[in-house]
Amino acid sequence: MLYLFLEYAYMKHVYLDNAATTQVHPNVIAKMQDALGTYGNPSSTHSFGRTAKTAIESARKTIAKYINAQPSEIIFTSGGTEADNMIIRCAVRDLGVKTIITSRIEHHAVLHTVEELEQKAAIQLLYVDLDVYGNPDLAHLETLLQKDDSKKLVSLMHVNNEIGNKIDLEEITFLSKKYGALVHSDTVQSLGHYNWDVKAFPIDFLAAAAHKFHGPKGIGFAFIRKNSGLSCMISGGSQERGLRAGTESFHNIVGLEEAFIHAYENLEAEKKYVEELKSYFIAQVKSTIPNAKFNGHSGDMDKSTYTLVNVCLPITEDKAMLLLFNLDMKGIACSKGSACQSGSDAGSHVLTQILSAEDMKKPSVRFSFSTYNTKEDIDYTIGVIKDIIEA
Ligand SMILES: Cc1ncc(COP(=O)(O)O)c(C=O)c1O
Repeated sequence: MLYLFLEYAYMKHVYLDNAATTQVHPNVIAKMQDALGTYGNPSSTHSFGRTAKTAIESARKTIAKYINAQPSEIIFTSGGTEADNMIIRCAVRDLGVKTIITSRIEHHAVLHTVEELEQKAAIQLLYVDLDVYGNPDLAHLETLLQKDDSKKLVSLMHVNNEIGNKIDLEEITFLSKKYGALVHSDTVQSLGHYNWDVKAFPIDFLAAAAHKFHGPKGIGFAFIRKNSGLSCMISGGSQERGLRAGTESFHNIVGLEEAFIHAYENLEAEKKYVEELKSYFIAQVKSTIPNAKFNGHSGDMDKSTYTLVNVCLPITEDKAMLLLFNLDMKGIACSKGSACQSGSDAGSHVLTQILSAEDMKKPSVRFSFSTYNTKEDIDYTIGVIKDIIEA
């Protein structure tokens, strides 16, 4: 027993689940530790409160600067889920939205919200057709936008968290605007990884989460374009310009700011490094596991995010059941992205939309990368997968 414990403690550990969450950067931890000493309530008018308030407003300015927004357009939330919920629910409640156009491969933060609005708020819910890779069909989107005169909200994610597809959000926004629709994008896998300029095209709403770019969990923000007409989802005090009540999570906001600075000051270098890792992973899979398939556009460096791949592995059903367990036993952390791997699991709502029935029987796994990974991590992972296949 002790031997097993020691073996696990000393074996190689490889974290390839960065789309789920990322390691917090040491500078972020240092800033947050400092911030915990600032205990004044930002709403208090005395010096303790003013110190916290000033730091929060400075964080808002920093974040706004990197995406070319105005500070008042950044609203801190508890993360991506809250930002998505706030935007969609308030657009229906405050802006007269009667129709939501989305896709069946959105994150559940969007899908479950719009489904509830369809049932409880009599919203017309329309799904845009997807091609075989999972990309929205823009001709069909235009047909949906033309369907009737109702006020519409288009909600399509920039980068898909399971298969990594990156859509042309600018084109989609301009098309939607032609028909007077509002546009929201779940940019949780995109903000912090790509350059953004919200003045370059008229997108209305974005959502971000700090833990996807080496920041803390439980903090994110909504970008809400000026004069949008949204009012609060969480009511109470007048924090966040009355849009999101509750005493601000000061240390988390400071951590988010530091993570955002790190992400954008090092974006090109880190992107290049992670891109090379992903290319290397793809090349190793192709040469070592020839029958593996890349799901969606994840094997295409131009059409998907550089941070993840989703691979359908040629593994027999008996081995598939224990695949993630066996990878975990070898110290490898990654995410399952397919149905039929455990009896109690409903399977991936994303892969269900794009894979054949035959491929749905095989295990699909998402491997997602960060600057903390190395080529050795990838060699080790591919070697372990090969051993599992050949065992
Ligand atoms: C695309 C996408 N949207 C929303 C979320 C939810 O973000 P949070 O965990 O910050 O609530 C996630 C997190 O997995 C995500 O990947």
